[in-house]
Amino acid sequence: MSKGKVDALLGIVFGDEGKGKVVDVFTPKYDIVARFAGGPNAGHTIIFEGKKFVLRSIPSGIFAEDKINIIGNGCVVAPDLFMAEAKELEDAGYELRSRLHISKRAHLILPTHRVLDRAYEAAKGKNKVGTTGKGIGPTYSEKASRTGLRIGDILENFDAKYAALKTRHEEILRNLNYTDYDITEEERLWMEGVEYLRTFPLTDTEIEINRALREGKSVLAEGAQGTMLDIDHGTYPFVSSSNTVSGGVCTGLGVAPNKIGEVFGIFKAYSTRVGSGPFPVELFDETGDKIRQIGNEYGAVTGRNRRCGWVDLVALRYAITINGVTQLIMMKSDVLDTFKTIKVCVAYEKDGVKTTDMPFDTEGWQAVYKELPGWQTDLTEMTSEAQFPQAFKDYIAYLERALEVPITILSVGPDRAQTIIR
Ligand code: IMP
Repeated sequence: MSKGKVDALLGIVFGDEGKGKVVDVFTPKYDIVARFAGGPNAGHTIIFEGKKFVLRSIPSGIFAEDKINIIGNGCVVAPDLFMAEAKELEDAGYELRSRLHISKRAHLILPTHRVLDRAYEAAKGKNKVGTTGKGIGPTYSEKASRTGLRIGDILENFDAKYAALKTRHEEILRNLNYTDYDITEEERLWMEGVEYLRTFPLTDTEIEINRALREGKSVLAEGAQGTMLDIDHGTYPFVSSSNTVSGGVCTGLGVAPNKIGEVFGIFKAYSTRVGSGPFPVELFDETGDKIRQIGNEYGAVTGRNRRCGWVDLVALRYAITINGVTQLIMMKSDVLDTFKTIKVCVAYEKDGVKTTDMPFDTEGWQAVYKELPGWQTDLTEMTSEAQFPQAFKDYIAYLERALEVPITILSVGPDRAQTIIR
């Protein structure tokens, strides 16, 4: 933890690395936990005091009483979903208003953005992105085309602004011949969500964060999605619509690059991806099924089967470079406990050409693997590195050599206690 700095905790592959659990281990050290990008397309599952919560827009520091949580300007917020998420926390006894501050500059996801998300996907036919359907793409598109609405807009003359944007959306939908939708009930709840949002501190969070940094406070920027879903650096066009990388922390919270401290890159001992798009390490056989089943790899937001494969050093090296990762965190190591051998993707190959650099178009590339011995030992009861079987130590050492960044935290099971700090 760095005082007066923003540390970033980022998924560095395709998201779903298990940030929820780690943030929960991290938050006690920080004064502020902030989300800087994305919206309810994220789903961090957190088990707190025996109760399971799925956080979508609210930062994971919300469970610690004395932490300030910030939804930054780089985020997009759906008032109805925010209300449902927040009320669940309130019902469980968490007081939110003094500890959850929302940027006035964050953009609003309208019900019609979600319809547009479906309409654009339908229009793409075979080339669907496989979005979460939460209206993320249309909302960020509108932010870029300067027609969107921001949280701060709900404070003044909102009904007229809302009606104008909705009319514009309806016109686009008519032009797309996408008219078979009914958002009456959704819109009612959404407006209720807007009223509910008004009861929260809607602030200039970038000023608040910078003031806290000047006072020597520490901030944890909690990532969403992953580097390979970043709008610039991911497997475009099969990506999300925001900058999920460490650069996004600066723009999404309003902090300068020299305020970034540690960059923690989180990955799994294997790979997963939800939605469409290239995934060279994907396993279509029973090994992939076994990883999915043991790792419980089903989407937190959509419930979809996650695509599974071996760890991908090409993607990891690329992500480490783009993000400036200073420490690695490897999750779900125990999922590989029963495998006799474990593969690691060391390069991609297409038409006889091999590369260890992330290609412009990852479509059609095959993974080139190195095979390592499995440890075939139950890691879940282990509490220190000294107990690790040699083959697991070798796996860690191999990854560290290949990635040139230390793996400082290892997770060997879903419980918070099953986290080993080296
Ligand atoms: P969108 O963010 O809903 O537009 O979806 C774009 C792509 O990002 C799709 O392939 C989604 O499955 C993927 N995606 C979005 N959010 C997450 C996440 O939190 N974890 C994993 N994949 C995600």
